[in-house]
Amino acid sequence: MKLTVIGTGYLGATHAAAMAEIGHDVLGIDVDPAKVDRLNAGDVPFFEPGLPELLRRNEEAGRLRFTTSYDDIGAFGDVHFLCVGTPQRKGEFAADMTYVDGAVSALLEVIRAGSVVVGKSTVPAGTAARISQRVERAGASLVWNPEFLREGFAVADTLTPDRIVMGSDSASAVETLCEVYRSILDTGTPLVTTDFATAELVKVAANSFLATKISFINAMAEVCEATGADVIDLALALSHDVRIGGRFLHAGLGFGGGCLPKDIRAFMARAGELGVDQALTFLREVDAINMRRRARMVDLARGLCDGSLAGKRIGVLGAAFKPNTDDIRDSPALDVALSAQQAGAAVRVYDPQAMGNARIDYPTLAYVDSAFDAAQGADVVLHLTEWSEFREIDPAALGEVVAERRIVDGRNALDRGRWRDAGWTYRALGRPYQGPPS
Ligand SMILES: NC(=O)c1ccc[n+]([C@@H]2O[C@H](COP(=O)([O-])OP(=O)(O)OC[C@H]3O[C@@H](n4cnc5c(N)ncnc54)[C@H](O)[C@@H]3O)[C@@H](O)[C@H]2O)c1
Repeated sequence: MKLTVIGTGYLGATHAAAMAEIGHDVLGIDVDPAKVDRLNAGDVPFFEPGLPELLRRNEEAGRLRFTTSYDDIGAFGDVHFLCVGTPQRKGEFAADMTYVDGAVSALLEVIRAGSVVVGKSTVPAGTAARISQRVERAGASLVWNPEFLREGFAVADTLTPDRIVMGSDSASAVETLCEVYRSILDTGTPLVTTDFATAELVKVAANSFLATKISFINAMAEVCEATGADVIDLALALSHDVRIGGRFLHAGLGFGGGCLPKDIRAFMARAGELGVDQALTFLREVDAINMRRRARMVDLARGLCDGSLAGKRIGVLGAAFKPNTDDIRDSPALDVALSAQQAGAAVRVYDPQAMGNARIDYPTLAYVDSAFDAAQGADVVLHLTEWSEFREIDPAALGEVVAERRIVDGRNALDRGRWRDAGWTYRALGRPYQGPPS
């Protein structure tokens, strides 16, 4: 089938390459010519494991290319995937729908009658019904097909999703989308077909649940800190209850990125518009718990530095919002690094993949080329993104370059025993302080 993908960021570029991989002819479009040039040259403009190979293989096979011209995509295909961004509106909780509305307007100028538009962006409930009226006036149909991929696992999540959700009032449009996903559905992937509003809500409900689970264990971490309990043991014991389970029950610096924070905020804003804001009041607390972890991280660093960060040197390990991505949108790591700098510390940051993005968005921080450079002369080292590279650091070797062997593990991911054995004072969120190393 001939498909187009509108917006080729983290979601769209992955979706375009994956659709080509399952045998379709795909034309991606983006308003950013530099991004399009790079994609056409087989170069993924962001870090996503496995995506460069997928992109190149399908470009070489002649099934995938990219353009900046809407005329090209109107002439090319009859199924158009909407993958543009829906960031948080500046100064508000609500989603900024400018890009979705702009892309729909541009598409409707060129679309052929009988085409199917497939919405994948995460949008407030009610968006699909609104867009559908415009799409139908152009003689086309709309399906809302929310995307659940995780950065870092985006290729596998797109080729082997755990479920596919389609919301529409057009049976034939749903049938067309089932044809697009035929090879994936034939492997037994669960399919839920429903109405527009439910399809939109599935995405934000899933993210709200995950955010709540993370903030639940981080709230427990706060209580652990006050009682001397250990949140790692607590979470382990909870996880043996199959009704609770251990996934997303890892206490630490909390969530960030381009999805969870803005999605729960947009969900609260939409609930307010719908008059059901009380139903989601708990998400305010989920958000607040999450943000408090960042402040607590800075407090732990301050505590290790005799009560003041002024004039101290801090080595920061991590800038991405989570490992295996270069995405720094709403990154807890960079938020903490900036707060430490604003408290008077000299901060040096290292991340295996996210330095380019971090330099652009956080230009006042200092960036260095390795974990050892970040730790050079440091009074305290902060572990803020759990890259495997950081777990593999030899604490004894790192101890040779720091001024003081003090580390705060913001991700509860380092081997506490190894670090203490190497003479480090180890602090972590939600875990009791065990005194100076022996
Ligand atoms: N990143 C994820 O892990 C993920 C997962 C699931 C859902 N989503 C949702 O997918 C959507 C896209 O997210 P993303 O992370 O890919 O964002 P992104 O910012 O990386 O990509 C959006 C792209 O759309 C392009 N664009 C903007 N206006 C356009 C227009 N009129 N025509 C063509 N292109 C246009 C931008 O230039 C950009 O390249 C969001 O709604 C997000 O919530 C993202």
